[in-house]
Amino acid sequence: MKTSVILTGSSQGIGNALKNEFLKDENYQVLGLARSVQSKSERFDTKQIDLSEFEKVHGFRFPDYEGSERIVLVNNAGKIDPIARMGHLSAEAIQENISINLTAPAILINAFLKAYENHPAEKVIINISSGAAFRTIDAWSVYCATKAGLEMLGDAVQDEQEYLGANTRVLNISPGVVATSMQETIRGADGSEFKDLEKFKSLHEEGILKNPEKVALQIKNLIESDQRGKVRLDG
Ligand SMILES: NC(=O)c1ccc[n+]([C@@H]2O[C@H](COP(=O)([O-])OP(=O)(O)OC[C@H]3O[C@@H](n4cnc5c(N)ncnc54)[C@H](OP(=O)(O)O)[C@@H]3O)[C@@H](O)[C@H]2O)c1
Repeated sequence: MKTSVILTGSSQGIGNALKNEFLKDENYQVLGLARSVQSKSERFDTKQIDLSEFEKVHGFRFPDYEGSERIVLVNNAGKIDPIARMGHLSAEAIQENISINLTAPAILINAFLKAYENHPAEKVIINISSGAAFRTIDAWSVYCATKAGLEMLGDAVQDEQEYLGANTRVLNISPGVVATSMQETIRGADGSEFKDLEKFKSLHEEGILKNPEKVALQIKNLIESDQRGKVRLDG
């Protein structure tokens, strides 16, 4: 099926692995959004954008994608820090985290559904969520709140789309603990502000972190299935 993907956070980690997995398939073309400069290729286009900047996100225009049979928005870009307890955070860091993890996905989902309202393609929205959406983690309060909000956003949009009889699936996917720079940020946190620091260091030392390529393949398989709703990736 001819598939066009708009993927945020395509420059590294899970996003980069997703980009590579999609591009192995000749039916896929990808538009990657990130702050970093990325090389374009035949089926990979890229746009430099800082998702913490409201005007930039608001100003983003989705391509027409005429002839596509499936159009996918993957809200993958995310930020874990500030890792510190409430009372010790800067207002700016709180705002930036919420902008990237929740405001930008909401603005992009809204613009995506508007842009393709009359497009005959199947629409798929993937929100990369986290186990932190479902349980509190010390020093991650803002991250937990944004991921819980993203889950509810996705569920609410799915309900609306079903009410409208639209050909839209929403998946909120928790990838598990994955070996990316986000985990390096977690292991580099200040232990006096984060009681689980040693636990996350042990996960790394014991080689328990998942590899992003495996996660990317699981997500591509979900895009091609008829699944919707909450998914926790195992193994
Ligand atoms: N790794 C894990 O264990 C884990 C677990 C659960 C959930 N997740 C979720 O998985 C998703 C991907 O995380 P990851 O581990 O792959 O993280 P990562 O390696 O740190 O990559 C984050 C990506 O987001 C982009 N990004 C960050 N800030 C941005 C901004 N202001 N504007 C535009 N793009 C921005 C980065 O691109 P630039 O730096 O080029 O802008 C990068 O491509 C996140 O939503 C995260 O919450 C990860």
